[in-house]
Amino acid sequence: MKTILITGGAGFIGSHVVRLFVSKYPEYQLVNLDALTYAGNLENLNDVADAPNYRFEKGDITDEVFVNDLFKRYTFDGVIHLAAESHVDRSITDPFSFIRTNVFGTAILLHAAKEAWKGAMEGKRFYHVSTDEVYGSLGATGFFTEETAYDPRSPYSASKASSDHFVRAYHHTYGLPVVISNCSNNYGANHFPEKLIPLAIHNIRTNKPIPVYGKGENVRDWLWVNDHARAIDVIFHTGVNGETYNIGGHNEWTNIALIHKLCEIMDRKLNREPGTSAQLIRFVTDRAGHDLRYAIDSTKLQNELGWVPSLQFEEGLEKTVDWYLANQEWLDNVTSGAYQEYYRKQYSRD
Ligand code: NAD
Ligand code: TYD
Repeated sequence: MKTILITGGAGFIGSHVVRLFVSKYPEYQLVNLDALTYAGNLENLNDVADAPNYRFEKGDITDEVFVNDLFKRYTFDGVIHLAAESHVDRSITDPFSFIRTNVFGTAILLHAAKEAWKGAMEGKRFYHVSTDEVYGSLGATGFFTEETAYDPRSPYSASKASSDHFVRAYHHTYGLPVVISNCSNNYGANHFPEKLIPLAIHNIRTNKPIPVYGKGENVRDWLWVNDHARAIDVIFHTGVNGETYNIGGHNEWTNIALIHKLCEIMDRKLNREPGTSAQLIRFVTDRAGHDLRYAIDSTKLQNELGWVPSLQFEEGLEKTVDWYLANQEWLDNVTSGAYQEYYRKQYSRD
């Protein structure tokens, strides 16, 4: 019987990780710690909320007293740490909340784990979920490997890079058993519509302009969120302490090509004339410091731990659109209230 703490389990990726672990490991006790910020939504977990091996704890990872108490109330065997501020655009307007949660919050969790596991580190594991954005920006060629030097260029990536360094420091200094993974851009169900793909789906559905930053030439390497959750499962159970694993789909798209593909799919699903949705595309002011290209080399994970992505992108995108069209109430709920104000501020810069 293992007790695993998953932080940020009410968010996009975290909810898929919680669902996978709750269903795959009935013998584990899964504790989801989440502050339920604007990005956290317990509706993402309706289907597992009553599972006997699942518990929800509302709390903030930057609250040291709360976190230390949590580590006293439970005897955790492992931590899978996903809680974070995750949106680059928000990090540009409010960098301090990224430093608070991503750096300070991670340090508080590391410290609580170190204290709780003192003298008994054997069999324990602290898994830190990070991003490929710590490696900076690529030119037209090349890939990020685990050896690529860190070169974060946004407040978001700088905060994640800093948290990665703290995780390694706790391993080297205190012997904390850690693993880190750095993943490329995820897409799929329950993705908050401040990020490109769900924002575009939402706007196409409601006939609103689709904002494309700059010329739409930036490249991202997209991975289906369920494949990320599968990789986290594999790394958590079979990764080597102190190691880093890159996770990615070898699936590069310029933003504009991706948006055209989405428009095509949406036209078909909504029975619109081909070309209708693409008329909503608008090129808008570029993001400050916009990283040109991310692309992950996941050879190490594939060769050493045997993980491979399960889904082709076109199929994943179709599934994703189907999910949003079948869950319009979810979209309507998360885009009411504070979202409107965020959207107005973010997209009224032109
Ligand atoms: P998300 O923004 O959808 O979810 C973050 C979750 O963390 C939310 O449920 C939120 O309520 C919670 N949270 C935020 N601050 C908290 C705090 N102080 N205390 C407790 N809970 C808090 O993010 P996501 O896209 O699911 O990303 C999860 C993790 O994966 C992050 O660490 C992110 O850096 C990393 N990551 C994301 C991507 C991606 O494409 N989305 C890619 C690679 C890595
Ligand atoms: P995003 O989903 O925010 O992820 P990240 O910045 O972490 O890669 O953005 C993906 C790409 O889409 C990125 O190059 C920025 C761009 N983008 C737009 O062109 N328009 C938008 O409205 C948003 C949110 C992003």
